[in-house]
Amino acid sequence: MNIRVEKGRPEKYPCEVLLLFAFESPEPLEGPTQSVDLEWKGFISTLIKQGDFKGELFECHLLYTQEALPAPRVLLTGLGKKGEFDLEKWRGAASKAGQFIRNAGIKQLAFPIMKFNGHSEKELAESFVTGLLLGVYQFNEFKTLEREKIREIEEIIFIGEKNAEIELIDDGLRTGQTISEAVCLARDLVNGPSNEVTPTFLAEKAKKIAKEYEIEIQVLEVDETEAMGMGAFVAVAKGSQEPGKFIVLEYNKGKGLDTIALVGKGITFDSGGISIKPSENMERMKDDMSGAAAVLATLQAASKLRLPLHLVGIMPATENLPSGKAYKPGDILKTLSGQTVEVISTDAEGRLILSDALAYSVRYQPKAIIDLATLTGACVIALGDYVIGLFGNDEVLLRRVEEASSKTGEKAWRLPLWDEYFEYLKSDSADFRNVGTRAAGAIIGAIFLSKFVGKIPWVHLDIAGPASIEKEKPYIPRGGTGAGVRLLIQMLRDWAKD
Ligand code: BES
Ligand code: ZN
Ligand code: ZN
Repeated sequence: MNIRVEKGRPEKYPCEVLLLFAFESPEPLEGPTQSVDLEWKGFISTLIKQGDFKGELFECHLLYTQEALPAPRVLLTGLGKKGEFDLEKWRGAASKAGQFIRNAGIKQLAFPIMKFNGHSEKELAESFVTGLLLGVYQFNEFKTLEREKIREIEEIIFIGEKNAEIELIDDGLRTGQTISEAVCLARDLVNGPSNEVTPTFLAEKAKKIAKEYEIEIQVLEVDETEAMGMGAFVAVAKGSQEPGKFIVLEYNKGKGLDTIALVGKGITFDSGGISIKPSENMERMKDDMSGAAAVLATLQAASKLRLPLHLVGIMPATENLPSGKAYKPGDILKTLSGQTVEVISTDAEGRLILSDALAYSVRYQPKAIIDLATLTGACVIALGDYVIGLFGNDEVLLRRVEEASSKTGEKAWRLPLWDEYFEYLKSDSADFRNVGTRAAGAIIGAIFLSKFVGKIPWVHLDIAGPASIEKEKPYIPRGGTGAGVRLLIQMLRDWAKD
């Protein structure tokens, strides 16, 4: 999609559709909506007076200008009550307008930027692009029938009136575009089926991105991880014919910048292994690599945004399948950290591969480790489909994540990591068991991980709920969501500014 900014006046600008916004009445029209209304002899005000457009949040009304303006159409979109406006609603409104325009088969839109409620043009441009691009995302790669019916917006033009404005808008829209492209990369990987998105596919994709974005990459084969002592990763990987890959990305290596490690669970399909899952809904377990996808996407965006940080991205990737070579309940595994784990369920495989990935990340002595994982069904029971479970051992780092979360609208809710919970993980024969009780399942999963990060500030994000959703949100269509990507990028941007 071509996105750019041009200098001009909204009421004079020729385009397929001019996109205007208004708050819920009785708020007066503002900025470009007001200028267009004046040029159009009060057409919009009349519509509002008659009660045909109320300005309710996400209300969309398509108008035909019949040569009163150079644009043949205007789409009027409601922003709801002025006092309740925020960037999250703005992203939703941009998405709803974009979806309306796309569904109407219109290919080009122009949007005269306006300032609202103390938000800068730059911020509004970034959030507008983010909401719109994420809202019109579709996954059509495997559809072969009626492809001619697929509709896409091809061009978005921001209209600015002053030169000083134009540069700021351009900056904001480029940032929004970079972040949205990263989120869509993660969504594509999550939506891709596990017969395509294998560990090898993830490694190849990571290599391509690394090359394009000046990121260093190392892909360890299973026998190499075995020689290094990653007994837990190896145990999970050996149950499948698809070779596992331990992928390590490094951005800004050796420049003396703050090091942050990002670790993502990369189970490309989770059948449960020998502790096999019920077949109902098992197809959803292709999304069990959402954490790894988020890590790769975040590194891509961080490099494009040139964030002055040293980032290490670690993606342990494997399938979890039952076979004659699969690991079994009762097995005892020696992890990279030296600690041993008794396997109670082969379906608690995420924490096993992460235990080695986290221990590996400690070698970089990072200022922070953040892991993302579709770790537990229990987290979905606790917090639902739209909320990330947030855990950690460091108050300052937890606050950073919470602050980023409040900016991006990716809700994250803290759960405790009290010592008492560790009791459930004690084993008769090894250092820990990989499963505790069903009760507090998300916390017990997190406590397990905490044993592999030493004293390094660490946060665990359980994205089992929001990684893919059944019912869409204003700018998140159903399916893979790219959960965590915007949250991580925001946190890293804020960190880079400190
Ligand atoms: N990948 C699943 C977690 C999951 C469940 C993600 C539902 C998304 C939706 C994970 O590997 C798993 O199976 N966890 C078990 C842990 C249990 C055996 C302690 C679970 O949640 O049941
Ligand atoms: Zn599992
Ligand atoms: Zn899993």
